[in-house]
Amino acid sequence: MKGVINKGIQEMVVSRFGHETWEAVRRRAGVEEEFFLLTEDYPDEGTEKLVQAAALVLDLPVEGVMVEFGRYWFTHVAPVLYPTYIALAGSSPVEMLKNVDRIHRLVTRNLPSASPPSFQVEEGEDGMLRFHYYSTRGLCPVVRGVVEGIGEYFGKPLAVTEVECALQGDHHCVFEVFPR
Ligand code: HEM
Repeated sequence: MKGVINKGIQEMVVSRFGHETWEAVRRRAGVEEEFFLLTEDYPDEGTEKLVQAAALVLDLPVEGVMVEFGRYWFTHVAPVLYPTYIALAGSSPVEMLKNVDRIHRLVTRNLPSASPPSFQVEEGEDGMLRFHYYSTRGLCPVVRGVVEGIGEYFGKPLAVTEVECALQGDHHCVFEVFPR
């Protein structure tokens, strides 16, 4: 996966817990790189090891680290690295969620080895959205965090519940997203 994910994990740990803690996470994960290049490919196993090591070092559940990472990524990393793509996607959480595939297509069009996930939005009643996540990577806790981060970013808090999950044997992951 592209370095933008590992870089986000590094930034989250450094900004919240300091450089020493990041070094402890990196050592425990057995990851040699001291920094990550955004468009460079890094093995998915390294990303998994970083998340697991962060959970151990910070004494948090793995899933909690992934949710936090997703939220941090959208509120702190994406606005700095990709303001144009965010602006392009629109000015509300719904527009953002409807345009994720378009953004991933644009971001990865010159990155032949990328394999971004795919999403679909269904609009329900009372502003509820069903958000479908299709990926072989099973990073649904990260998706939940990113969606919560989108709500935070636009100042419109969202409640996100995963109602179907590929990791539990469902065809793919589905989230119900409500304005709070
Ligand atoms: C400014 C907006 C965004 C940019 C620039 C961006 C960029 C990227 C890039 C470069 C990758 C790595 C792809 C690869 O290595 O194959 C990625 C992966 C991913 N993105 Fe985004 N993304 C954006 C918004 C979002 C949003 C809004 C969501 C979810 C709601 C999302 C969910 C994910 C997930 C879960 C992955 C991990 C790969 C997988 O699950 O298969 N992204 N994104």
